[in-house]
Amino acid sequence: MKTRIIQVDEKNIDKEVIREAGGIIRSGGLVAFPTETVYGLGGDALNPASSRKIYEAKGRPSDNPLIVHIARWEALAAIVKRVPEEAVKLARDYWPGPLTMILEKSDLVPKETTGGLDTVAVRMPSHKTALDFIEAAGGYVAAPSANRSGRPSPTVARYVIQDLNGRIEMILDGGDVELGLESTIVDLTAQMPTILRPGYVTRQMLEQTLGGVEEDVTILRADSGQAPKAPGMKYRHYAPKGELTIITGPERKVVDYINIQLDQWRAGNKKTGVIATDATMGAYRADVCKNAGSRLDESAMARQLYRILREFDDEGVEIIYSESFEGSGVGQAVMNRLLKAAGHRVTELK
Ligand code: TXA
Ligand code: MG
Repeated sequence: MKTRIIQVDEKNIDKEVIREAGGIIRSGGLVAFPTETVYGLGGDALNPASSRKIYEAKGRPSDNPLIVHIARWEALAAIVKRVPEEAVKLARDYWPGPLTMILEKSDLVPKETTGGLDTVAVRMPSHKTALDFIEAAGGYVAAPSANRSGRPSPTVARYVIQDLNGRIEMILDGGDVELGLESTIVDLTAQMPTILRPGYVTRQMLEQTLGGVEEDVTILRADSGQAPKAPGMKYRHYAPKGELTIITGPERKVVDYINIQLDQWRAGNKKTGVIATDATMGAYRADVCKNAGSRLDESAMARQLYRILREFDDEGVEIIYSESFEGSGVGQAVMNRLLKAAGHRVTELK
């Protein structure tokens, strides 16, 4: 299949292009499109054949449910059994935006889209191109991140092309995304609203809107012994090809320890890489050193992470060390993704 790649400008949207892209979805095809979080791989959420195509193009297990993207609040009622009070409040505060809600699905949504579940994930993105595209597509676009399964989510069209060229009808190239990490997912079908995937909308923000909020225990730990409630979180995700290890502890010790490891790997002719920060960029003896930015700017780190992981792949880095990035806000989500990328390989220095 020949994939058409078309540049789109959020500030000057080409209606004709959007109409065409929408038409592809309506007739059962697939279009990758920019959102504020990461690029999505869109298909008609109400068409079972489209969802099957998405799984095939991504190489993704079909028990991993898709997020249904809507462009207007009024669109929600038709795809869920009921709209709970919590959803109204969350939408008021965070839609359109990087928040996905899990609700009980109506019969309109095929099980192919929800990976066989009776619940459906719904999000209204804030990216203008995405909103216009969803409307043109009929109002319900199922879209996982537009990467091949197991690879980091794409934050620029170049990576969508790398993964999906020749497998889908069209890619809308909207340049760099704004946020760089996937949406926060909150399950509203549990006793207590539960965060299944951390993101820009933090636990503190959700608590402000809702009062009590819980967190799926599998989010930051490998040893909980439980299956994650978001099926997608169980797969080894966001993984670079090189072997990634996170080193935690006092900064000086971390730098010294990583340098000793690097010397050994390089003596064995392995290509090495490090994810550093502004403060430590000059300190490492790695072949490739990537700067995640200032520790004080958690959103800049969020924006860099997936690009950095992809660049290590492109540059053939085999052994990667990363500093640890805890934080109070989106830093928690950064750490969640980094831990998954590392397959929870962490060395703690005291
Ligand atoms: O920011 C985002 O959310 C991006 C953009 C494109 O909107 N999309 C995205 O989709 O990250 P995806 O498919 O890569 O991740 C969706 C996650 C998966 O972990 C999946 O298991 C979970 O959402 N999920 C979807 N429906 C669910 C449901 N009904 N119950 C529990 N988890 C669900
Ligand atoms: Mg994904």
